Amino acid sequence: MTTSVPTSQQRPGTPSGTATVNYQGKSIELPVLRGSVGPEVIDIRKLYGETGAFTYDPGFTSTASCESSITYIDGDEGILLYRGYPIEQLAEHGDFLETCYLLLYGDLPNATQMKEFDRAITYHTMVHEQINYFFRGFRRDAHPMAVMVGTVGALSAFYHDSTDINDPHQRMVASFRMIAKMPTIAAMAYKYTIGQPFVYPRNDLGYAENFLRMCFAVPAEDYKASPVLSRALERIFILHADHEQNASTSTVRLAGSSGANPFACIAAGIACLWGPAHGGANEAALTMLEEIGSVDRIPEFIARAKDKNDPFRLMGFGHRVYKNYDPRAKVMQKTSHEVLDELGIKNDPLLAVAMELEKIALHDDYFVEKKLYPNIDFYSGITLRALGFPTTMFTALFALARTVGWIAQWTEMIEDPAQKIGRPRQLYTGAARREYVPLNKRG
Ligand code: SDX
Repeated sequence: MTTSVPTSQQRPGTPSGTATVNYQGKSIELPVLRGSVGPEVIDIRKLYGETGAFTYDPGFTSTASCESSITYIDGDEGILLYRGYPIEQLAEHGDFLETCYLLLYGDLPNATQMKEFDRAITYHTMVHEQINYFFRGFRRDAHPMAVMVGTVGALSAFYHDSTDINDPHQRMVASFRMIAKMPTIAAMAYKYTIGQPFVYPRNDLGYAENFLRMCFAVPAEDYKASPVLSRALERIFILHADHEQNASTSTVRLAGSSGANPFACIAAGIACLWGPAHGGANEAALTMLEEIGSVDRIPEFIARAKDKNDPFRLMGFGHRVYKNYDPRAKVMQKTSHEVLDELGIKNDPLLAVAMELEKIALHDDYFVEKKLYPNIDFYSGITLRALGFPTTMFTALFALARTVGWIAQWTEMIEDPAQKIGRPRQLYTGAARREYVPLNKRG
């Protein structure tokens, strides 16, 4: 079993000229590097040393934080590639563990590699029995994301034999453990909140159907997911698996750059994903659709979204990178229809609101000018709710699927010979030096 990306996937940026910076009478030549596709980068690593000035880019809208060969996004064209393969094709033809292999190792597996990988993941799906007691410390009404952050962070207290990031074998074991155990932990988080006993994974079930059974089976009655629903959930996991240097992936990379153990890094990613501007948007989008409630209230919410004085935003709309339709949202919309049809749910009122909201927004100058389109979170909630998940579980499912992307990116960073601890600087606008004034002399 290979443990690192094949070198054929890794190609350093190719020098393609220079950029000149004129600053305080000096002229500095900075190298320009070209990747395989997408924007070139201006290499500013020597800028501070030669000018004494930093670059300034809050939110990193114009900053490439690393070199990567895992996922490529073209925001203007609405393109998403995992190791070069279009997301639409992977979602249509592949399954989630095949996508995991692709993201981790850089190529689609052959039959032998797929069988080996599938077995390796399957035989790591159980969690240490002590973790059952760990859950007892949470309140029953704890948000599943709070449980996921706490439990995943605590895995380093159980699996000491896979925390040494300098050992490729331990990195591989930790990676397999997290990909395998995330569904088990997410299902436990769900069961705990509804007061039902935990359901153990089974080795004879696929990744998504195993998760569905762990969530919905009870001692009194087993649960067998329909192939259509299992397939839909596999596809949802594929869509959420990785997405370049988004906020939570950047969090995992930054945490990993300090040498923190893999479980702590993934827990940091889960914490960041929870935010409503990021992975928490799927929960927020469904809550918004429920608040809108009916098509005739859409104009009121569109007006609020456009009102600068109102903090309300259309959840599931807009994206830092996509200034076109998020390709994942198209597949999600198609999947939501498939799941609703399979479940015999006709005329889902929230789907009707979502589709009318999308239609109105996409013809409204405000959204058109700002290039705000539905993103992956806009339709996912409708599908997950139809599958039987409560809104509070939506981001936990996002974290479950994104774990492989975080791990692939973390591994790429650890194995990058140029890797060093991430430590940004700042534009300081605080007080210059001033002397301490004793309390009895202050005004
Ligand atoms: C994910 O990065 C990733 O790849 C993330 C992700 C992944 O797979 O990892 O794709 C997953 O996080 C998807 C995004 C989910 N979040 C939401 O759906 C929340 C709603 N969307 C917004 O909060 C916003 O669009 C962001 C956070 C997604 C992007 O914000 P940006 O890039 O910082 O853009 P911005 O906030 O500067 O907005 C630009 C303009 C602003 O107006 P002006 O100040 O220029 O006048 O567009 C407006 C914003 O007010 N705007 C919106 C809006 N999103 C942006 N107005 C109304 N509703 C919205 N949803």
